[in-house]
Amino acid sequence: MAYLSTIDFFEDQNFLDRWRRTLKGDLDLSWMHAQTEKVSVAPENPRRGLTLRDLDTGSYGFTELPEFQRQNRSFAPRGAELPDGLPDLQAEVNQKGEVWAYNTEGYYEEAMTRQWNATLDVPWADLAKQELPDDISRAYAQLLTFLTEVEMIATDVPAKWMGRLNNNFMEVKNFMATQIMDEARHAEVFRKRALTTGYGLMKASPPNEISLKQIRDADSFAEMSLSLHLIGEGFVLTLFRFSEYIAPTEADKKMFRLVMQDEARHVGYGVQHLKWVMRHFPEKREVIHKHLDEAENMIFSGGNGLEVTEPFIILAGKGLKKENIEQGCKITALFQLKQMEEYFERLDKCGLGERRKISKLHNAMELTRASLQEAGVRAG
Ligand SMILES: [Fe+2]
Ligand SMILES: [Fe+2]
Repeated sequence: MAYLSTIDFFEDQNFLDRWRRTLKGDLDLSWMHAQTEKVSVAPENPRRGLTLRDLDTGSYGFTELPEFQRQNRSFAPRGAELPDGLPDLQAEVNQKGEVWAYNTEGYYEEAMTRQWNATLDVPWADLAKQELPDDISRAYAQLLTFLTEVEMIATDVPAKWMGRLNNNFMEVKNFMATQIMDEARHAEVFRKRALTTGYGLMKASPPNEISLKQIRDADSFAEMSLSLHLIGEGFVLTLFRFSEYIAPTEADKKMFRLVMQDEARHVGYGVQHLKWVMRHFPEKREVIHKHLDEAENMIFSGGNGLEVTEPFIILAGKGLKKENIEQGCKITALFQLKQMEEYFERLDKCGLGERRKISKLHNAMELTRASLQEAGVRAG
């Protein structure tokens, strides 16, 4: 049967004849002879179950995936026969090197087994019983407002890109689907916590939102991933770790531990993607540095907006008195130093150690380190 690009099936005689004959038991059965590979698949580790890695075989696998996806431009699952007449989805991202990362399938599997529930897994009833001082509550509600802003963009951005990827990149798309779910849950949990402080949401942050918009507006998937997964979420991961440390109650610490486990996975994908690119496309080094120049600049300014730094200082110092603020400033400077150190360590792992010599952010890191030393605060 010929497939036209637009068919009025109710007017199409061939289609109607085939439909009637099928319902009378006169079957076509041509699909039974699909020219596809026969395989034998079983879990490598029965206790772990059947993983995507167990399916990495022949034309169904991801190891043999060519660099450019010229053949499959439809919804056809990888490995299926591709007859004439499939729609052309005009995927924008068809190059494996744009999206691929070591262990993508592992990150997806981990995400599936570690989903948690913001409604049930945070002890909300305990939180309701604990009243916090006014200045701490206000500062905490402000930090949570900032975090909710961040999580909303982190939900939108992978969602914006997911449908633009060629369907042969199934593992990457599945991972992105889990990230979208994770980030939606993070926005949910921070909003819930902000409202349970009794102070509700506080003030949105223009520098933060301008930097988030830059991530949303990235021209390519690779550029987006550098800004979001590697830099933005890397910074956020350190922020969560320190937020757990300064969080006012045990229940809050638990909330940050839960979001951290998801965030570590998202950063893991970003690192493994950049590592993949550097290993397979070393000629991209220059353009990556250009993207990093821009992204470091924007994310540094967004992450240092007053709407996040000040509440962080108050929470870290546990109040608004002079001695609290002094202590809070020290902890905040240590946190910012750690954020930058961890970022450069990630780049080292990806083979971009020379970034330390050319990055303005690296200068900012050394200035922070020097001022902490001057103040007699030990980093590490
Ligand atoms: Fe998140
Ligand atoms: Fe994330």
